[in-house]
Amino acid sequence: MDSLLEIAFAARQHAHAPYSGFLVGAAIECEDGRIFGGCNIESSSYGLTCCAERTAAFAAIAAGARKFRRIAIATDAARITPPCGACRQVLWDLCGDIEILLGNAQGDTRTFQLRDLFPDPFDADSLA
Ligand code: THU
Repeated sequence: MDSLLEIAFAARQHAHAPYSGFLVGAAIECEDGRIFGGCNIESSSYGLTCCAERTAAFAAIAAGARKFRRIAIATDAARITPPCGACRQVLWDLCGDIEILLGNAQGDTRTFQLRDLFPDPFDADSLA
């Protein structure tokens, strides 16, 4: 298994998902080689929940990283889990056209470029 996906599965063990029971892990690889893990963190006020992808990306940004190579996302869902719409927006804003590696516990994997999952984005250029 790709080592970035292994780190995403390790991060998934920390998921705090008492409401949905849906555990997600992510691992983002920076251009300088650093890797940051993240998991979903749910709130009793459901809309305040933070997805695993954003937790990982925010950890990287908070540590000073600004350039990224790829992100891996791990679940145990039979249908492999792509990033939600909110995460596509945030990943586009922070990472640009990053590679996205999806994997599930059954060993299925898929790879995308973010631009294919998030075409015609609203972003900083839209505000110029
Ligand atoms: N979730 C993620 O962490 N990433 C996604 O891309 C999809 C959804 C989380 C949010 C919530 O804690 C749970 O999965 C169910 O939606």
